[in-house]
Amino acid sequence: MKCNRLVDAGRRQFMRGGLMATAGAAAATVMTPEQAKAQALARVDYPANRLANIADLEVNEPLDIAYPDPDSPGILLKLGQAVEGGVGPDSDVVAYSVLCPHKGWMMSYNADDKTLNCPGHHSRFDCEASGQQIWGHATQNLPQFLLRVEDNGDIYADGADELIYGRLSNVL
Ligand code: FES
Repeated sequence: MKCNRLVDAGRRQFMRGGLMATAGAAAATVMTPEQAKAQALARVDYPANRLANIADLEVNEPLDIAYPDPDSPGILLKLGQAVEGGVGPDSDVVAYSVLCPHKGWMMSYNADDKTLNCPGHHSRFDCEASGQQIWGHATQNLPQFLLRVEDNGDIYADGADELIYGRLSNVL
């Protein structure tokens, strides 16, 4: 009998703890209108930057670019065959950051296997597969820049799908 009372008391204590935790979580997620407004102002979208024109590109010859600002180097590349995320008339134009996601070394393009290669610790990224890491120390895929082509062939970058090395967030 005494044992049952103890079990019952323990159950009530557990339920009370659960309710307190739920109330705490709810309080933590509810923002005042002022807080919501401040958070919205803190989010700034990536800029829409013109990178080049389709006519500037040769198949498998990377063009140096920078996006979203001059401190973030990258390449614009016409691969010669349609790939996922590719834009342009042949769905084969892509753009990537060339800062290695591991420790930010500048990578170079290998035209033979269409990869970006890091001289730091030898990470490798597949430019035909959305920057997928295929070897090395990095712990994320390569940031691919989101592209758009205007009717006159101008190519714009509108964002990035992964965190660019050295940046604190995916919004500027
Ligand atoms: Fe590129 Fe380490 S900096 S693998």
